[in-house]
Amino acid sequence: MLNNIIEKVLVTEEEIAEIIDRLAAEINADYGSGDKNLVVVSVLKGAMPFTTDLMKKLDFVSELECVRVSSYGSGTESSGKIRMLLDFDREDFSECDFLVVEDIVDSGNTLTYLVDHLKKKGARSVKTCTLLDKPSRRKVDFDPEYVGKEIPDEFVFGYGLDLFEKYRDLPFVAVVNPEYIKDHV
Ligand code: PRP
Repeated sequence: MLNNIIEKVLVTEEEIAEIIDRLAAEINADYGSGDKNLVVVSVLKGAMPFTTDLMKKLDFVSELECVRVSSYGSGTESSGKIRMLLDFDREDFSECDFLVVEDIVDSGNTLTYLVDHLKKKGARSVKTCTLLDKPSRRKVDFDPEYVGKEIPDEFVFGYGLDLFEKYRDLPFVAVVNPEYIKDHV
């Protein structure tokens, strides 16, 4: 069944592990010393597996918060307007260095909104980290500080990314067979 849905595996389980090791090393170097107080902000639902695997590789104490957002508009085209579905609050924004973690950056609207949101709340610093990046889809000028892998504009799923809300549990990222999409929209 899954064989009919997958066009090809784009990022293997092994490559994901290598990417996470590389990104964790960069984050350890940037946040592991000095007076940094890292708070990882996971953007649900897609970033959940990436966030937990990345945090396991951090060699210093950090905290975790979660947010969930949705963009107004229908279909696959984002309107650019973001609605906060799940937010968090804390007393010490001005003492925290936030790292927003995403599974994928597409238009850039979600991370642009979240960075602004955290800065407005008084965050000491805000950076972003994404497993996958589709720069060709950008609608706003946005560059994450930590990028796992740039990918072409293909419909991908697995390792947190859903295909009609399913298959987030796959250990790899795959490109969906276009025939499957045609039959299911
Ligand atoms: C996806 C992804 C990012 C966002 C990126 O989330 O996880 O949060 O879209 O798109 P953008 O750069 O165009 O804003 P989605 O809305 O599919 O929700 P999910 O993570 O719950 O699947």
